[in-house]
Amino acid sequence: MHNLSVVIRATASYLPEKILTNDDLSRMVDTSDEWIVTRTGIKERKIAAEDEYSSTLGANAAKKLLAKLDFDPMGIDLIIVSTMTPDYICPSTAALIQHAIGAKNAAAFDIAAACSGFVYGLSTAKAYVESGLASTILLISTEKNSAFIDFTDRNTCVLFGDGAGACLIQKGVQGLVIKELNLGASGEESGLIMIPAGGCRFPATNATVANKQHFLQMQGKEVFKHAVRRMEESINVCLKAAHISPEAIRWLIPHQANIRIIDALAKRLSLPPEKVAITIDRFANTSSATIPITLDLLMDQKKIVDKDILLLTAVGGGLTWGTVLLEARLS
Ligand SMILES: CC(C)(COP(=O)(O)OP(=O)(O)OC[C@H]1O[C@@H](n2cnc3c(N)ncnc32)[C@H](O)[C@@H]1OP(=O)(O)O)[C@@H](O)C(=O)NCCC(=O)NCCS
Repeated sequence: MHNLSVVIRATASYLPEKILTNDDLSRMVDTSDEWIVTRTGIKERKIAAEDEYSSTLGANAAKKLLAKLDFDPMGIDLIIVSTMTPDYICPSTAALIQHAIGAKNAAAFDIAAACSGFVYGLSTAKAYVESGLASTILLISTEKNSAFIDFTDRNTCVLFGDGAGACLIQKGVQGLVIKELNLGASGEESGLIMIPAGGCRFPATNATVANKQHFLQMQGKEVFKHAVRRMEESINVCLKAAHISPEAIRWLIPHQANIRIIDALAKRLSLPPEKVAITIDRFANTSSATIPITLDLLMDQKKIVDKDILLLTAVGGGLTWGTVLLEARLS
């Protein structure tokens, strides 16, 4: 008999219907399918409809999750949403989702850790459950990146997509056990990925809109350099704490920002391609949603089996980064 651990009981994801291909983009900006595939690994991405928002995508993922478990939303006591593309600055997207799914007994808040949001969210959820402050947590990562992308800027518009992933976290004997965690941040690099205007420093004015300061800006080359190093360091801290060697990893589920970042990371860990989960080709970078979407696809396809060790790792705006080590306990 296992002791009760904090587990991800189940996962779900929701992706909007509309597909935007590289060829579509090459008709909008000066780019090509060949450039995008070789430089990023992205072939296409999903784009939310005009009347689909981060809250809508997240609520859809949550509803799929609850249906899968036949779980009453009234049994949820906390909703945590990670997003860097909230519906509003205030109120939180978590509050909107709480209403959309009828989780009337749940407290709700957002966390802002950009693309590392899901791993930050897992750590928050684990701490709440372990402390007894909450017992049943819905963690949702949801992003409508397309609302913050300048579709005339080829440096950014080819990289991102929209989507959401959700999971239910409780104490239990079955699920994906949250075993080890490592988080970090370096505000020194806060300028590398940002949406400059719309906050209190640069409130919306005609000038900020004219200067396109409400769109995401990124220094891609600089981010690339930090990304591999930060994730590798974070992974090593986690593996050491868990007394696990890289060979024991069944699945590396990295944030999907660029296939070259993922390949470089896998190489440093000596992980063969069959141990690395890739969804960037179909969904591009959905910010904090890439990991839960990828995790859900693996679960759905039954590619995760009992005793598998999974390593989730991300880096994103802030800069922030983090790694979570999960162990599948599925029988
Ligand atoms: C953005 C990124 C794909 C660019 O790839 P890169 O190999 O670094 O390319 P560079 O920035 O050196 O650009 C090379 C050239 O391609 C051009 N280019 C950029 N985007 C292009 C596109 N979509 N199509 C064609 N050419 C493009 C650039 O303008 C540049 O041209 P120039 O040399 O004439 O100025 C890459 O840096 C990256 O993925 N960085 C990490 C981003 C990331 O992880 N962000 C999210 C973190 S959560």
